Amino acid sequence: AFDISNLRDQTGYVTLDRGYKNTGATKSAITFLDGEEGILRYRGYSIEELASKASFLEVAYLLIYGELPTKEQYAQFEGAIRHHTLVNEDMRKIFDGFPVKAHPMCVLASLVSAMSGFYPESYEGNGDENLDIVRLIAKLPTIATWSYKRSMGHPLNYPKNKLGYIENFLNMMFALPVEDYTVDPVVAEALNILLILHADHEQNCSTSTVRLVGSSQANLYASISAGISALWGPLHGGANQEVIEMLEEIKAGGGDVAKYIDMAKNAKTTGFRLFGFGHRVYKNFDPRAKIIKKAADDVLSKLGVNDPVLEIAKGLEEAALNDEYFVSRKLYPNVDFYSGIIYRALGIPTNMFTVMFAIGRLPGWIAQWKEMRETKEPIGRPRQIYTGSTLREFVPMENR
Ligand code: ACO
Repeated sequence: AFDISNLRDQTGYVTLDRGYKNTGATKSAITFLDGEEGILRYRGYSIEELASKASFLEVAYLLIYGELPTKEQYAQFEGAIRHHTLVNEDMRKIFDGFPVKAHPMCVLASLVSAMSGFYPESYEGNGDENLDIVRLIAKLPTIATWSYKRSMGHPLNYPKNKLGYIENFLNMMFALPVEDYTVDPVVAEALNILLILHADHEQNCSTSTVRLVGSSQANLYASISAGISALWGPLHGGANQEVIEMLEEIKAGGGDVAKYIDMAKNAKTTGFRLFGFGHRVYKNFDPRAKIIKKAADDVLSKLGVNDPVLEIAKGLEEAALNDEYFVSRKLYPNVDFYSGIIYRALGIPTNMFTVMFAIGRLPGWIAQWKEMRETKEPIGRPRQIYTGSTLREFVPMENR
């Protein structure tokens, strides 16, 4: 029997909002998002302007420290990151223990968690928070490239500190000891845009996870590792891998877009969702998707890549935008819909897509963790509405 007293405890009544669809968990001065108007701003600067004018590390600084860096501040921040790109050789032993087939997101979350063991000051309370921030931003790309290199059977590349952040990542990914490798500026520019577009998105699932874990005063590495795990899910960052796999499947099946639209319309019975469509907050368009769609067109034409999957994506988008099911539910392409097409054109394999998202989102997670600490937020501890049994008498095992 439903007992009304379950709704109440000594502190009063509990609000039930499954999935936090309408619950503000915090106040934040980092990212402004208007889902109706399709507006996204970091610290007041429009995402369109940042994506076209700034570098990823400049945006990282802006998110974390609240202002665009001066020349000197940028030189110091960027220099510190260059200085810390090398990963402790003992981390390699942990990495070597993973099976080759381990998903790169599992490896990334584990190694970032392991970092607190290498920097115990982070939880002993005598550390330097700015150094932890620099270490994470510097080392994440290095760790990320290990999984790819090993999956290819290639030797791992050490970072080269004469290279900039994005060039360094691309060099560790694609350089081979047997031939020269130079970073294509078109590729570096495209990656810069993608990372900026992913850099923060207020209280999404992974960011809320970082804040919740951090609210117990867990250290930065532990909190970020939890965020990486949350990002991996196919309804969140993992959607970018799902999108490209879905588009490839459509292509392999002869390009029958209508069949997939129908399946998605019956999501309740088929359990199939059109990956890369829909967003909890954007109900008109995702401004990041607009920028990415244009960037995909630009990059593919500049690189001379003719990817039939891009045409399928455009066909799917058009069919969905003209379908009552998608229109009435305000389901539009999200940031992940076109990003995979660019990653593919840059030579990044599918199982690394969500890792790319994590590299991009890292400054946002850090900024939110830092803000939470500075505003002295209390530990996060949601309530529930109990739906189990009322008081029962214990039955000894022999009588059950
Ligand atoms: N395909 C088909 N139907 C969908 C889709 C989709 N991609 N997304 C939502 N719907 C339908 C639901 O079935 C539901 O239908 P109903 O009104 O008949 O019950 C309605 O639209 C509302 O969906 P909810 O799941 O309630 O919306 P919610 O805000 O909880 O979910 C989410 C948002 C998770 C993004 C969802 O749209 C989805 O699963 N999309 C596909 C996965 C994806 O692309 N995720 C990436 C999100 S962006 C990011 O994380 C960076």
